[in-house]
Amino acid sequence: MSSESAPQPLRARAAPAPLSGRLRVPGDKSISHRALMFGALAIGTTEIQGLLEGEDVLRTAAAMRLLGATVDRLGDGAWRVAGRGIGGLTEPADVLDMGNSGTAARLICGLLAGHPLFAVMTGDASLRRRPMKRVTDPLAATGARFLTREGGRLPLAVEGARNPLPLDYRLPVASAQVKSACLLAGLCAPGVTRVVEPEATRDHSENMLRHFGATVRVAAKGHGRVIELDGQPELRAAPVQVPGDPSSAAFFAVAALIVPGSRLVVENVGLNPLRTGLFETLREMGASLTVANARTEGGEPVGDLVLRQGELRAVDVPAARAPAMIDEYPILAVAAAHARGASRFRGLGELRVKESDRLSGTAALLEAAGVKVEVEGDDMIVHGTGGPAPGGGLVATQMDHRLAMSALVLGLATRAPMTIDDGGFIATSFPDFVGLMNRAAGGTAIEAA
Ligand code: S3P
Repeated sequence: MSSESAPQPLRARAAPAPLSGRLRVPGDKSISHRALMFGALAIGTTEIQGLLEGEDVLRTAAAMRLLGATVDRLGDGAWRVAGRGIGGLTEPADVLDMGNSGTAARLICGLLAGHPLFAVMTGDASLRRRPMKRVTDPLAATGARFLTREGGRLPLAVEGARNPLPLDYRLPVASAQVKSACLLAGLCAPGVTRVVEPEATRDHSENMLRHFGATVRVAAKGHGRVIELDGQPELRAAPVQVPGDPSSAAFFAVAALIVPGSRLVVENVGLNPLRTGLFETLREMGASLTVANARTEGGEPVGDLVLRQGELRAVDVPAARAPAMIDEYPILAVAAAHARGASRFRGLGELRVKESDRLSGTAALLEAAGVKVEVEGDDMIVHGTGGPAPGGGLVATQMDHRLAMSALVLGLATRAPMTIDDGGFIATSFPDFVGLMNRAAGGTAIEAA
């Protein structure tokens, strides 16, 4: 796994040709994790198509096997999970190693809280720095007991509740991971589990719970939502079709908008409105970005992104939009670096606790390319160059796949190449990123440094 292997420095230079043609990005990471987890909790056999076979999701697959589910890979993105039923997971005989994946770690804490078993969880150096108290605190109210390292960090040990209590929890931060952890614990508890979120966050858990037969009620409350789950449902296995990940499509979208002359179609992209903040923002910047072939697949909106390079102007992104594009700020910053004028992104506090401190990491990435950036409290201001940025820098990716891919996309359109210290972590979410980008760019734009 990348956390233990030697660093893989990569260099991106001006794309040899405009990006063109049609391509597909791998399956949605959030939906892939959930499909494996809900499949493991369902009665019967869940068939999954389009599963993301990135390292993060493979960690979830391995954890579900350790917890007693039968998980088989049938072919490219085609997987089968024979579930144990709610409350049916068994004690893992070994440590659950979640690698780089915060989503896997936090959601599985919810699942463990509701089962009477003992488990130990760890992760790579990035994940061991990330806050887990945001899930262990609310989950303790089920009756589960968590022991963590100082500051609520991994490794942790959990003794799940024998008779879990339903939660009634108001999230202090807008986090789909924390919401989902509470709902997963609620599956094992009698009565109604209630979660209030201050702002609406991605609702893949709610959608998939319904798809598997659970009763979930959602009501709007201010900018946020109240979610109620009826406990101890019988989850029934159901087929899952995973759409392309909009957070992965984002790198191709921005590359096509900044590499001169590009015209690109990214097919089969998930367009859940709680994920599409970046596409809305790019349109506000004047981008030529349209959706063709809009349809619904497996309960999620899907479409093809049609992109054409052109001039971009600065944008002011409100804090309220952050949950709908929380993973997209590094690549938005790359677009803003090419735009005319100063862009401001507001309310980015949560970026400090991602795979790396993405607020400072994104600023450093742009600075390495000669782009002026300011961080004011939780806001970032990017002074766009209105054309190709100088480039020529080395970016420290800090075990963060999205910083790595963003820096490489930037390098496709800077005057001098951009280098990253380690591309190994790209495999957590997008194993063939480099190959796919080079094919779209008509030759070798990204290669080993
Ligand atoms: C995710 C939620 C987000 C996001 C992460 C995936 C999910 O995290 O950053 O990449 O699948 O629920 P938070 O819920 O912590 O914001």
